[in-house]
Amino acid sequence: MILNIACIGGDGIGPEIMAEAKKVLDKVAATYGHEMKYTDVLMGGASIDVHGIPLTDETIDICKASDAVLMASIGGNTSTSPWYKLEPSKRPEAGLLKLRKSLNLFANLRPAVLYPQLRGACPLKEEISAAGFDMMIMRELTGGLYFGERQTVEVDGELKATDTLTYSESEIRRIAIKGFEIAKVRRKKVTSVDKANVLDSSRLWRKVVEEVAKDYPEVTLEHMLVDNCAMQLVKDPAQFDVILTENMFGDILSDEASMVTGSIGMLASASMNDTKFGLYEPSHGSAPDIAGMNIANPLATILSAAMMLKYSFDLHKEAAAIEAAIDQVLTENYRTVDIMSDGMEKVSCSGMGDLVAERIK
Ligand code: IPM
Ligand code: MG
Repeated sequence: MILNIACIGGDGIGPEIMAEAKKVLDKVAATYGHEMKYTDVLMGGASIDVHGIPLTDETIDICKASDAVLMASIGGNTSTSPWYKLEPSKRPEAGLLKLRKSLNLFANLRPAVLYPQLRGACPLKEEISAAGFDMMIMRELTGGLYFGERQTVEVDGELKATDTLTYSESEIRRIAIKGFEIAKVRRKKVTSVDKANVLDSSRLWRKVVEEVAKDYPEVTLEHMLVDNCAMQLVKDPAQFDVILTENMFGDILSDEASMVTGSIGMLASASMNDTKFGLYEPSHGSAPDIAGMNIANPLATILSAAMMLKYSFDLHKEAAAIEAAIDQVLTENYRTVDIMSDGMEKVSCSGMGDLVAERIK
């Protein structure tokens, strides 16, 4: 199979971790008889430096013409980087939001998994972490507060700012369907998270999710208020299978869930439209403080590449080979500095990429 992949190396540690993901994909291609065709494109700060804007039409077009997009990380240090002196619509993150919208990537899948080998990194009490957890946060990604109308106006001599949270039935329905489809092939439970005790948009969310649930009798649906969900994530994360939620709640809860694993350097994500097309990126940021030092953890990007093989190309064996190789490297006690603990062997970013690539079978 020929895989046309647009690659966004991006900023900070982005180019380093992208190189390791390509290394592993190349090994997969050689082992399983595929051909990887990468097209490197600029986005974020790297694009600002060259074009003055974080996302060009050319980058959007190349992404659209590809089968999938693999992204590393974008953005810089918000207090020192010149990118953050620009108006908000010209900053690195604006490029990512525009790309999500242009590619209609409404479904964001963020797995939060506690690897048994990394249980020690989990900040929760041992009696909680002992149960392990493996959840998928399904975040709506192109609606809600992020894309509603906003304005700042002066009223009676003081500034007044407004952001609007709007969802239509069809926007809720399509993400709910994705959520139930994913739950069907996992542990068959959906926790729909909202703030239905206060917000109209949440009451509509709940209504539509209940309608969709009728088509999935094998999946159990429960509703949870977002504030309670924030508590339950630290109290009993093992209860969750699929968490289905709107854009802003998903932004916050997915960061919380990733922190609860204790190893954000291990977490991948996928952002999909209603076809097989998706953008795949690690859940962590661009870590500008350690950029260029060859110490970043490339595993989240490598796992994002595995998600890409699974969801965009239906290459399940190949994805499983990557996951197995990572599992083996961890079991053999190799660690990058962010997940280092006593008695383990510390390896560099490229060293980790080599170890994983060597173990692809
Ligand atoms: C994320 C990030 C983005 C978001 C930022 C960079 C705009 O936090 O992917 O979760 O809020 O969606
Ligand atoms: Mg976020």
